[in-house]
Amino acid sequence: MSAQDRPSAPRDLKCEYRSSPLAIDETQPHLFWKMSDSRRGAVQSAYRVMVASSPDLLKNGHPNIWDSGKTQSNQSIHVEYGGPPLGSRDRCFWQVQTWDGNDEPSPPTNIQSWEMGLLSDGDWSAQWIAMVEGSDRAPAPVHYLRKEFTVDKPIARARLYATALGVYDVNIDGSKVGDHLLAPGWTDYTQRALYQTYDVTDQLVIGENAIGARLAVGWYTGPLTWTNQRNVFGEPPPLLLLQLEIEADDGSISRIVSDDSWTCKLGPIIHSELYEGEKHDARLEMPGWDLPEYDESAWSKVDLVDTPNIAVTSELNPPIRITGEIRPVSITEISPGIFIFDMGQNMVGVCRLRVTGDAGTEITMRFAEVLDRDRSGNVYTDNLRGAACTDTYICAGAGLETFEPAFTYHGFRYVEITGFPGTPDVSTLTGRIFHSDMPQTGMIETSSEVVNRTFENLMWSCRGNHHSSPTDCPQRDERMGWTGDAQVFCRTACFTHDMTGFYGKFILDMLDAQTEDGYFSDVAPHCYEVDRLANPGAAGWADAGILIPWAYYLAYGDRRLIERNYDDMARYVDTLARQNPNGLWLEGRNNDFGDWVPAGEDSDKDMFATLYYLYSTKLLAKMSHLVGKDERAAEYDALVESVRSAFNARYLLDGHYLNPTQTLISMALVLGVPPDGHLESIIQDLADDVESRGWHLSTGFHGTRFIVQALSENGHHAAAVRLAVNRDYPSWGYQIGNGATTIWERWNGDVGDPYMNSLNHYAFGSVGEWMFRHLAGIQADPEEPGFKRFSVAPNICGPDQELNQVAATFESLHGRIVSEWQVTSNLVKLNVEIPANTSAQVVLPNRDFDKITESGLELKDAQGIGNIRDENGAVVCDIESGRYSIICR
Ligand code: BGC
Repeated sequence: MSAQDRPSAPRDLKCEYRSSPLAIDETQPHLFWKMSDSRRGAVQSAYRVMVASSPDLLKNGHPNIWDSGKTQSNQSIHVEYGGPPLGSRDRCFWQVQTWDGNDEPSPPTNIQSWEMGLLSDGDWSAQWIAMVEGSDRAPAPVHYLRKEFTVDKPIARARLYATALGVYDVNIDGSKVGDHLLAPGWTDYTQRALYQTYDVTDQLVIGENAIGARLAVGWYTGPLTWTNQRNVFGEPPPLLLLQLEIEADDGSISRIVSDDSWTCKLGPIIHSELYEGEKHDARLEMPGWDLPEYDESAWSKVDLVDTPNIAVTSELNPPIRITGEIRPVSITEISPGIFIFDMGQNMVGVCRLRVTGDAGTEITMRFAEVLDRDRSGNVYTDNLRGAACTDTYICAGAGLETFEPAFTYHGFRYVEITGFPGTPDVSTLTGRIFHSDMPQTGMIETSSEVVNRTFENLMWSCRGNHHSSPTDCPQRDERMGWTGDAQVFCRTACFTHDMTGFYGKFILDMLDAQTEDGYFSDVAPHCYEVDRLANPGAAGWADAGILIPWAYYLAYGDRRLIERNYDDMARYVDTLARQNPNGLWLEGRNNDFGDWVPAGEDSDKDMFATLYYLYSTKLLAKMSHLVGKDERAAEYDALVESVRSAFNARYLLDGHYLNPTQTLISMALVLGVPPDGHLESIIQDLADDVESRGWHLSTGFHGTRFIVQALSENGHHAAAVRLAVNRDYPSWGYQIGNGATTIWERWNGDVGDPYMNSLNHYAFGSVGEWMFRHLAGIQADPEEPGFKRFSVAPNICGPDQELNQVAATFESLHGRIVSEWQVTSNLVKLNVEIPANTSAQVVLPNRDFDKITESGLELKDAQGIGNIRDENGAVVCDIESGRYSIICR
C-alpha cells in the first residue's frame, strides 16, 4: 500500500465546538474532528479517542483518563466524552485516531486539550466588589480597581476567571489580559452572567505583580431601548467578580480574588456608555496604576456587595474583539475646523485617533452612517435618535497621543472631527471593526455584481449586528436582540459563520426571557416594558424560540438544545393551542408587528400569525420525533393539520387566498399549507403578483425570506433571480445603487423618517439563505443533520442570464462543501466537493443520463457516483465524498 492510500490524521479537533477551550462546563463534553482524506468515498469506519491528564502520558500510550478503544462508528462530530466524571479545572489532553473504509488506521492526531470550568458556586472564593461612591453620575464614569500581590514560586499555570455586572477589562502588570471587548457580554443580569477564562501564565512574574480592572456600565445600567431607560437590569454601580488562580510548579495553588483588599478610584474616562460614547481626559491619566509599587494613597477601599442571586456560567459565545481595520478614503473640511472623514464602508466598531496637541486640547468625534441630505456635507445624526454617539478626547500634551475608546461602539461610515489641532490626515483616524468573532464559514461569488455586493453587504451587516446578542441595528438607541430579525436571518448566519457558540448563548437568553406561560419574547435579553418577563412576543418574533434551535440542529446536528429545552419549547406551542382552540392564532397576540416594513401593502395579521403558529408547531412535531416523544409528535402533527385546515377553510376561496400578498402566499407555499388541487392557482397568484409589479417584491422582514424560496421551489426560479438582480426599487440592487454598503432596515432607506431608518439592519439579508440553498443548492438533510448527509441541488439559469455562474463554499462541521456551476451556450459545468465521511444527493439540471459526464466518464461509470435515477424529470444521484467535475450537455 502506498502512503497516499493511507488515511492521514484527522484535523480541526474541537471540544464543544472550540479548539483547546479553557472553561468547559458541560460535564460530558462533545468532541469533534474532521477527516483529512481527499480520496473519493473516504469514510471513517472506526475511531479511538484517547484522553490523558498530560501530553506525555498520551505520547507514551497511556490515556489515563479515558480510552474509547477502537469504536466501530462513522461519527466524527458530537462524540461524547465517556470517561469518569470530570471536576472543576480538570485538564484533559486528547487525540484521536481513525480507521478508513478499508480498516486502515490513520496516525494519531496532534494533541489538543480542554479544561473544565468552575462547575459549582463553591469554586468561587472571590467576592463581588464595586466602587459605590459617586456611582449615581450619568452618563457614567469608568471605575478603576486595583490590587497588588506577590508570586513567590515558579508558576506552572495561571488562570484568571472574571465577570461583571457591567462591562470590564483587566490588565496585569500593565498589559491587557486577553483581547475581549465589552466582556462579559450581554445577558439578563438578573438571571445570569457569563465568566471569561484567560490563560495568564505568561503575564505573571515571580515577585511583585498588580492587577488593574476597569468597569463601565455597558448594558447593565446604561441606557437601553428607544426610551434610553437606565438601570434595566439593576442599580449602579457596576460590579466585578474576579479570581486569579496560580498553580506553582510544586502543585500548590494560590488565589488572588476580588475582595475588600482592593482599592478604587475614578480615572481619565469621564464617561463611557454604549449609546452615548466615551469621553477621555488624558490629563487625568494615572501612569502605573496597573503596575506594582504604585502609590495608591489617593485611592479608596472598594465596597463589598451582596452576592447577586444569579447563575455564573462559562462564556459559550466567541468574544467581541477587533477583527480588522479600515483606513479613511477621504477627508473633507466642510467649514473651518470641521473635518468629515469617509471610511468608505458603513462599519461597526470605534475609531482610533492619533493626535499631537497642547494639554487641554479637546477633540470631538461624532459618528454617522450618512451625510446630511441638505448637502451641507455634514453628518446626518437624526436617525441615531437619543444616542449621542460622540467620543471626546482631551490631550495630555505629551507629544503624539493615541486614543481608542474602551467601552462603547458605533455604527458609522462618516466621522466628524472638530477641535483637531492643525490639519488631520488619513493617519489621524483608523476604523477598528469589532463584533463577536464568529469564524466565517461561507462564501458566495457569482457572475452578478448585484448578488455579489448583496452578499458583501449582508456579511457587513451580519458582523455589525453580532455584539454578544444578535442586534437589529448598531447605531441608534436600540441595538437590541430582536428575536424576529434574528430568526429570519439565522439560517443565513449558519451558512456564513460558525454560530455554534453565539446561538448556543442566545438560545439561553431567549429561555431566560420566556414568560411564565411559555411565550418567547420580542427581544432577548429582555430589556423593555415594566414587567419584562411577562411580556409575550409577537408572531414571528416569539417563534424564534423554536425556529433558531431547529436551525441550529440542522446546521450543527446538536440534539442537546432540543432535548434540554423541549418542555420550554412545547410550553409555547401548548399555550398558543390552548388560547386558540379553533386553529387560527387570533388570541394572545402581543405587539403584533406583522410582516414588518414591507415594500408594498401590509399583510393580514391574523393570517400571518396563524402561519407562524403552524410553522412552530411543525418544527416542534419534528423535534418531538427526534427526542423520541412519539405520542407528542403525533399530537403536534395532528395540530399542524388542524391549523392548516382552519387556515384554508377561513382564508382560501375558490383557489385563492383572501389576502394574497406576496408574503402570505410565499409563507403558505413554503410551509406546505395549500390543499391539493389548489396549489397551481396559488403559485400562479404569486408569480402574477411579482410580474404585475414589474418583477418586484412587496415583502417585509418575514416575507422576504420566504418569497425567494417560494418562487424557486415552485417552478419560478427565474422570477426569484430577477428579484435578486434588480437594480430599481424595491430591491437589494436599489440599495446598492444608492450607496448601500450594508443592508438597510427599509427598502427605500427612508432617511426622511428619523425614527426608523437604520442603514445597517440584517433582516433583508435573509436572502443569503436562498443564495446557499437555492442558487448553490446546498441543503441540509434533517435526517442526518450537521451536513453528515446533504443535497446539492442548484437551480441553474440560462446562459444569457446575468446569473450564469455561482461558486459557493461552506465549511461544515465535517469539512468543506463546494457547489460551483457555470452555464455556457450548450453545457453546464458543475464542480462539487463533498467532505470525507459524508455523502450527498446531487440533483443535475439535465434530463438525459447519457448527456452527463463526470471527469470525462459517463455518469454510470464514474467512481463514487451511484443510485442514478430520474426524479420528476431530473437526474438525481448519490455521491460519496471527494471532488467531482460534472458536465451536462
Ligand atoms: C427594530 C426591528 C424590530 C422591530 C419590531 C424595530 O424598532 O429595529 O428590527 O424587529 O422594531 O417590529
